[in-house]
Amino acid sequence: MLHVILFRPEIPPNTGNVIRLCANTGAALHLIRPLGFELDDARLKRAGLDYHEYASLAVHDDLNSCLKAIGSPRVFAFSTRSQIAHVDVQYADGDAFLFGCETAGLPEDVFAAIAPEHRLRLPMLPHSRSLNLSNSVAVAVYEAWRQLGFPGAA
Ligand SMILES: C[S@@+](CC[C@H](N)C(=O)[O-])C[C@H]1O[C@@H](n2cnc3c(N)ncnc32)[C@H](O)[C@@H]1O
Repeated sequence: MLHVILFRPEIPPNTGNVIRLCANTGAALHLIRPLGFELDDARLKRAGLDYHEYASLAVHDDLNSCLKAIGSPRVFAFSTRSQIAHVDVQYADGDAFLFGCETAGLPEDVFAAIAPEHRLRLPMLPHSRSLNLSNSVAVAVYEAWRQLGFPGAA
């Protein structure tokens, strides 16, 4: 199983998209507080999500407790500040992918704590600012899932 970690996400539709992405690919989704929105059954249902899609969603007080709960996985941080393209890495079952929030991205101290060879970038044209958060997660998860041979896919 792959793990997706959203660090303090702010915009509900992005998290909604990521919930559905994870439900469709079998990735586990972890949200790090504080969240920029309320998260409850009624809101998730109003967003068009079915219970089975968000049943395994976990919310953690901080990144360290999240990583401990997952079992200290390899963590890849996705940031426009990284140099290594996401396709130049060999992923493994159990890897965790860390994404920053929509406005500020990953805080410098969180980014700096990730091993340099695990800081990844999604290629963009020059002078581009960044991709949308949920699009970034989709590109990353699908590349890793592809490398693993799409286990569990129909
Ligand atoms: C909207 S972006 C954040 C923008 C923020 N101003 C920044 O520069 O980090 C939200 C998150 O999507 C991911 N992201 C967006 N574009 C990316 C790219 N080209 N490479 C890697 N990650 C990216 C990162 O995890 C980022 O923290």
